[in-house]
Amino acid sequence: MIPQHFIDELLARTDIVEVINGRVTLKKQGREYAACCPFHGEKTPSFFVSPTKQFYHCFGCGAHGTAITFLMEHDNLSFPEAIEELARLAGMEVPREQGTGDRAEDHRPLYDALEAAAEHYVRALRHNHEAVDYLKARGLTGEIARDFRLGFAEDRWDGLISALSPRFDDKTLIEAGLAIRKEGGQVYDRFRGRIMFPIRDTRGRVIGFGGRILGKGEPKYLNSPETPVFHKGQQLYGLFEARKAATRLEQLLVVEGYMDVIALAQHGITHAVATLGTSTTRDHLERLFRVVPRLVFCFDGDAAGRKAAWRALEQALPVMRDGREAAFLFLPEGEDPDTLVRTLGAEGFREREATAQALSDTFLDGLKARYDAHTREGRARLGSEGAKLLRAMPEGLLKTQLVNDLARLCAVSPEQFARQTEAHAGHDQPPPSAVDQPVARPGRRPATAGTQRLAMTPARLALALLVREPGLAAGLKDWDYLAASPVPGARLLAQVIETLRTSPHLTTAGLLERWRDSDEGRFLLKLAQWQPPDAEDAPPARMLSDALTRLRHLHDEQRASELLEKASAADLSAAEKEELKRLLSARHGGGP
Ligand code: GTP
Ligand code: MN
Repeated sequence: MIPQHFIDELLARTDIVEVINGRVTLKKQGREYAACCPFHGEKTPSFFVSPTKQFYHCFGCGAHGTAITFLMEHDNLSFPEAIEELARLAGMEVPREQGTGDRAEDHRPLYDALEAAAEHYVRALRHNHEAVDYLKARGLTGEIARDFRLGFAEDRWDGLISALSPRFDDKTLIEAGLAIRKEGGQVYDRFRGRIMFPIRDTRGRVIGFGGRILGKGEPKYLNSPETPVFHKGQQLYGLFEARKAATRLEQLLVVEGYMDVIALAQHGITHAVATLGTSTTRDHLERLFRVVPRLVFCFDGDAAGRKAAWRALEQALPVMRDGREAAFLFLPEGEDPDTLVRTLGAEGFREREATAQALSDTFLDGLKARYDAHTREGRARLGSEGAKLLRAMPEGLLKTQLVNDLARLCAVSPEQFARQTEAHAGHDQPPPSAVDQPVARPGRRPATAGTQRLAMTPARLALALLVREPGLAAGLKDWDYLAASPVPGARLLAQVIETLRTSPHLTTAGLLERWRDSDEGRFLLKLAQWQPPDAEDAPPARMLSDALTRLRHLHDEQRASELLEKASAADLSAAEKEELKRLLSARHGGGP
């Protein structure tokens, strides 16, 4: 659940023109921006973006919506993904409302203990020459140690526990993964005699640690255990630091170790992140692609590295929708990014990074290496393995090309091969992207035709005016009755006015997003595209007050007939009798 206030705030900080202009080239045309519609093929622009309404609309195919809708349709994102993307552009963090109470609140003591531990380890590093010398010998400066908050856990059983008590009790330290209880009941520090790498979440909160032994010893690295705030399969070391170092991240380099991330940063290559001693999971990938459109994975050039790369590729295919890119960088044997950047230097490393192999090449090469494409039997196995992998991939231009390439490789027609990738596909396939089906999308009718067909009753006219110019709601009086009015559209109008009264700064887009995925929402979207007839050049405020006056008369009429009907069937209450009297006298006093 993403809180409504956050969506409001996000849309207020978002400029739809900027969002769309990154993907479609917009030209200023009067108060709006125009382009050839990205959702259907056309040669003359009928796609318009309004900076004031924060809304787009195509007169050709009827595509329309907000910045959120645009990302969902154009980039084929889900609603939460579109929110994540906009938040990234706006430099905001998406808060989540927990279903069962505010769990973040429960974890406060854990976060506090982890933060206190990080501070303690940093202090301890300053007092330990051996540890400082070790880091220096590995080429690190004090500045990098500070950026990554590197620390040291003394080689004692209770270094942390005694430093943090009595502020934090044993129970908290154990739950935070910082201490361990022995069978005899005694409690001791988990990390001893190790260089400490704090692992931070995207907000910068310390959620766990990695610890490297000084010199030789087992285990070489020790990580925090799973705790309520630390989940290894989702977290990436260095992501917070990478985002902090760049104004705009374009790609991330996924490496294996803590020291790789840090050594690269030491050389000015600040876009590396590491999985925490696990192989890359789907969660990692989704998380990373929410931050950047391109990932480069580093692997050893040996057989084990190739195998690991293939596993990463299998994880990546299902999330490779168009617009996302992945590549594989194979390192010389015996090297890791840490040693390589130290021998090649930053420039040399960057040059090598640029030679990373595109995922589609790794995919095709990998299949060719596994199966013999010189025999029919080999090609059949290659094709069926390839088709199986492609089945998991979202529809799009990248997949289409891979289908074509594999078809050629297997000496069958692309149509025949495409059928292989569809067989047994089905339930968990994401919806086809907008690119595949430009015009005939279900449920989408040409908007102009739609609104022209819409008869503009007073309620619809009032709604249309408010959706187009939410500021108009501020001046309205005596509208409470609408909430219980029998006039069609009146209740929605009351809700819209109520919403705009409580959130006066909502834009058209912000207002529409409140009714996302409901019939009312689709109706309001339609009304948002209504254009006043050229003949009617009255100011909008005037048109609105006229519409509301006519609506009041309609209400009175309908309410009077309702009550008359009821009066003939049963007794009216005293209040209803009073109301009817008032309505009837108003009727005689001159209607609309
Ligand atoms: P340095 O030897 O300090 O350069 O570290 P490295 O990152 O090159 O080490 P290595 O390639 O051996 O390991 C890569 C990553 O795997 C580390 O950063 C750890 O996250 C993880 N790892 C390595 N050794 C261990 C271990 O003994 N236990 C655990 N849990 N993880 C390890
Ligand atoms: Mn290393």
